[in-house]
Amino acid sequence: VFILSACGTSQVDGGKSGGEEKKTLKVVTDAAYAPFEYMDKGEIVGFDVDFIEAVAKEAGYELEIVNVGWDPVFVEVKDKIADVGISAITINDDRKQTYDFSVPYFLSTNKILVPEGSDIKSAADLKGKVVAVQNGTTGQEAVEALLGKNNKDIKKFENNNLAIMELNSGGADAVVADNTVVEEYAKNNPNDKLVVVEDANAFESEYYGLMFAKESPLKAEFDAAINKVFENGTYAKIYKEWFGS
Ligand code: ARG
Repeated sequence: VFILSACGTSQVDGGKSGGEEKKTLKVVTDAAYAPFEYMDKGEIVGFDVDFIEAVAKEAGYELEIVNVGWDPVFVEVKDKIADVGISAITINDDRKQTYDFSVPYFLSTNKILVPEGSDIKSAADLKGKVVAVQNGTTGQEAVEALLGKNNKDIKKFENNNLAIMELNSGGADAVVADNTVVEEYAKNNPNDKLVVVEDANAFESEYYGLMFAKESPLKAEFDAAINKVFENGTYAKIYKEWFGS
């Protein structure tokens, strides 16, 4: 895995001046994507949660983080029901037509999760197989690029945990999702006997960003705060807490 270094310099004084009432922002997420966001004893936790809390603190905001599910993240940010989306969201050209994104904060790529002993050894081997993905993700797009857009062998689920359940129950031969997510899943659930296919350049590199409505004034404030969090060691500390190095 890979830590992004500071992207540009921050000029804005993060944090509102003393005594001012802190504004609470509504942050929406799909908390079924460990280790980025997931439910633990009724609480939303994960790398993204710690990261955005640190950034908001720097920018002088309180947060209310709500687990709304993947599709509603996009709807609520677009319709300004929520202020920010954080959900391991890949910055891409398609989404940039509708949303503004922060500077990138995490490098990712799709990877293939399969049962131990699977004959799928590369992305090319997915041809003719049943592949489970989370609907509306870059994983879905990556599989569609390989197998064809309306291929019935691509099974789409509302969240990634349901896609993995389909794999575990034998209803799919593979899951394609973000590398960190499938790697952590395989490691933390040894009884499922799943492994990640090592096909390094199978899919493109992606970067995660915070997602805002177009023209949101929060983007500039959050970019400055993110750069602060990169520069002052907070990002590295949170990264280490979740990924160990
Ligand atoms: N990075 C991928 C994308 O943006 C998958 C993100 C899924 N996130 C989630 N919380 N389920 O399409």
